[in-house]
Amino acid sequence: MKFWNQNLKNLSPYVPGEQPKNITQIIKLNSNENPYPPSEKIFTCTNELTRTSLSTYPDSSCSQLKNDLSERYQVPVSQIFCGNGSDEILSLIFRSFLAPEDLILIPYPNYTLYETLAQSYGIPYRSVQSDNQFMISFKKLAEGNSKAIFFSNPNAPTGRFYAIEQIAEFCHSYSGLFILDEAYIDFGGESGIKLLSELDNLIVIRTFSKSFSLAGLRLGYAFSSPSIIEGLKRMKDSYNLSYLTQLLGSIAIQEYDYMTQNAKIIIQDRTYLTQKMEVLGFTVINSYANFIFVTHPKYSAKKLFSSLKEEGIFIRYFDQPRLTDYLRITIGKRADLDILLSSIQKIMRSYQ
Ligand SMILES: Cc1ncc(COP(=O)(O)O)c(C=O)c1O
Repeated sequence: MKFWNQNLKNLSPYVPGEQPKNITQIIKLNSNENPYPPSEKIFTCTNELTRTSLSTYPDSSCSQLKNDLSERYQVPVSQIFCGNGSDEILSLIFRSFLAPEDLILIPYPNYTLYETLAQSYGIPYRSVQSDNQFMISFKKLAEGNSKAIFFSNPNAPTGRFYAIEQIAEFCHSYSGLFILDEAYIDFGGESGIKLLSELDNLIVIRTFSKSFSLAGLRLGYAFSSPSIIEGLKRMKDSYNLSYLTQLLGSIAIQEYDYMTQNAKIIIQDRTYLTQKMEVLGFTVINSYANFIFVTHPKYSAKKLFSSLKEEGIFIRYFDQPRLTDYLRITIGKRADLDILLSSIQKIMRSYQ
């Protein structure tokens, strides 16, 4: 630690969901990945590779990918930014727009990377607690003189969704930056994209990791005002996205219908799992995402998590304030959800 700076010394590192090695023998419902593979067309892309496409540097402004995003979402290219996962975009927002004299607000619970990034860049932050139903009060977010608010909608890890009208009303009277993280928006709820024409303090962030089944690719994108996008472009590394990432991203957008079909199945299976879990006595928060957040009045979440892990079923337990009674379960394929359900029943019987 001899060479560590103060921010690094204070940093509690982001803890991702476990990535077990023996992927075929386990059921992995712990990282909100998509259980369906990417579109077949993704795997034909090698036909488009030329010798020079890999021996020369990629397009630093991701022109084709941005054109495709622009056409799909009807947002001008000057209002689009592409990054190495939405995590890189979040990191660039800290580096570009925030300073140690600023205060940022982070509703709790939330995607924990926001806090990790605030610590690593030395930006003071305050958690804004949700109520006991995990709903955030916009009144509370208006308090204090904050420079930015990081807001996932649907929320991670609860799956709660806030109406876009509510967000619009808040942003109109807020003078800071509102970062609307829509990592899970393809699984439910309405996007804030349509608010871009009326707000210059809104950044909408999206990812290919969840609905497009491309978590391994590392590709995220953001929509905002031309001035904010220009700031991110200046701050980024010259070649932040490889040639392959840009190419595969464009193919995934062409295959938009394949993505929405899978999202539809996941939404149906979310309803299925919710109903089955409720029959088992769990309280399930109404989710708009590709996961559910559940608690049981009788059985310890931590014990259930460990017992399922012993059976080769990985779900997510958060050892964090107010979350220790809860489990987050990613919506996998129906057959895997059925195995999960029978394992939970077996574990519950063994406790009696
Ligand atoms: C709310 C939220 N935002 C962003 C991300 C990260 O997305 P990416 O894979 O694009 O970095 C996650 C990942 O779990 C998430 O839950």
